[in-house]
Amino acid sequence: MLGGPGSGKGTQLKRLCSRMGIPGISVGEILRQAIVSDTFLGKKAKPYVEHGELVPDELMIQLMRLRLLQEDTQNGWIMEGYPRTAFQAEELDFVLEDFGQRLDTAIYLQLDEAVMAERSIERSRHDDTLEIIQRRLELFRERTIPVLAYYEPRQKLLRVNGNQPPDAVEAEIRQQLSDFS
Ligand code: AP5
Repeated sequence: MLGGPGSGKGTQLKRLCSRMGIPGISVGEILRQAIVSDTFLGKKAKPYVEHGELVPDELMIQLMRLRLLQEDTQNGWIMEGYPRTAFQAEELDFVLEDFGQRLDTAIYLQLDEAVMAERSIERSRHDDTLEIIQRRLELFRERTIPVLAYYEPRQKLLRVNGNQPPDAVEAEIRQQLSDFS
């Protein structure tokens, strides 16, 4: 699940996973929990997350490799917030190949930056200040939009209108997934 800050990735991840009975991997959530628990990963990631910067690719790739090694991923999964750079997208394919898995579809929640910013500010997490959100949006534009160009020519990209109520977004995702398969 791809999208900018506040685009609804986490919201849709929970809905789809509970409907499909497969685990959801929320990268932002994993990082936030690691920070609260003050683990090795948390210590490394903290300065980046708190300033809205991207955690270095090498650390993220290692984190995802470890997560995908866990038993619960054997029968499918949905992840959100990853990949967030073209390099991560490419590396994810290598990791999945190593594990005998593959990525079927990348779902992109498309909506205006103003709406993403408004939703993020309303949520008021520690790293949801205007300045940090603006930095996250900037990085989304510069580093994550190119990920679309990785999946589009591979015919894996679904573009969904994220600027509608959560039920309607979910319905559109499910519709597009069933048309796709
Ligand atoms: P992360 O936690 O993933 O932050 P984010 O991508 O900025 O996304 P958000 O969690 O803010 O939003 P969301 O799209 O999940 O929307 P949500 O469903 O919550 O990452 C945090 C940080 O970790 C990054 O800044 C970076 O430092 C680091 N990081 C993470 N992944 C990384 C990676 N791969 N590489 C490097 N660094 C990484 O919804 C938002 C709000 O809107 C909620 O209040 C919700 O109720 C509401 N809402 C949702 N859908 C709708 C709707 N359809 N209509 C109205 N309201 C809605």
